[in-house]
Amino acid sequence: MTPQLAPTRTGILFVCLGNICRSPLAEGVFLGEVVRRGLGDRFVVDSCGTAAYHVGEAPDPRSCQVAAQYGLDITHQRARQLASADFARFDWIVAMDRANARAIEQARPSGARARVARFMDFVPDSTSQDVPDPYYGGPEGFERVYDLLRRGAGRLLDAVLAERAQEAG
Ligand code: 4NP
Repeated sequence: MTPQLAPTRTGILFVCLGNICRSPLAEGVFLGEVVRRGLGDRFVVDSCGTAAYHVGEAPDPRSCQVAAQYGLDITHQRARQLASADFARFDWIVAMDRANARAIEQARPSGARARVARFMDFVPDSTSQDVPDPYYGGPEGFERVYDLLRRGAGRLLDAVLAERAQEAG
């Protein structure tokens, strides 16, 4: 019998500043989309922050609440800071805003191949280039973040799958 090789998993890392508001929600929404399409065994999905302010903490209760409202449990996640190893572990590093994207590029080890993308590039008809930081606002900001993530997740997954298909020839 020919041994079956396990398919290579594509790594997607979502990055914001604190890893307690936007990127944990992005991780939950994107993973939900991956699982909904039956692709759970083909992806590794994670999130982190460019800053270390909240390392080890669970997501902000307002993120957990909006996630729960839409059937997602993100309470097990714990904040961590972006590390050099992430540039080798992940194929795509997806920034929530432009400041995050700049910080990611500054942290990139020389020669690291990971592709850095901005999430808002996958949200149709968006007027902003940033997923707005809801940390200092009310719960409506978290609803807005969820809505943007929901609108962009499918298109981001389509883009990742298209790139994978192209690489496979
Ligand atoms: P996040 O939001 O980057 O979406 O997790 C923030 C969380 C914490 C802080 C700023 C933004 N902070 O300054 O502590």
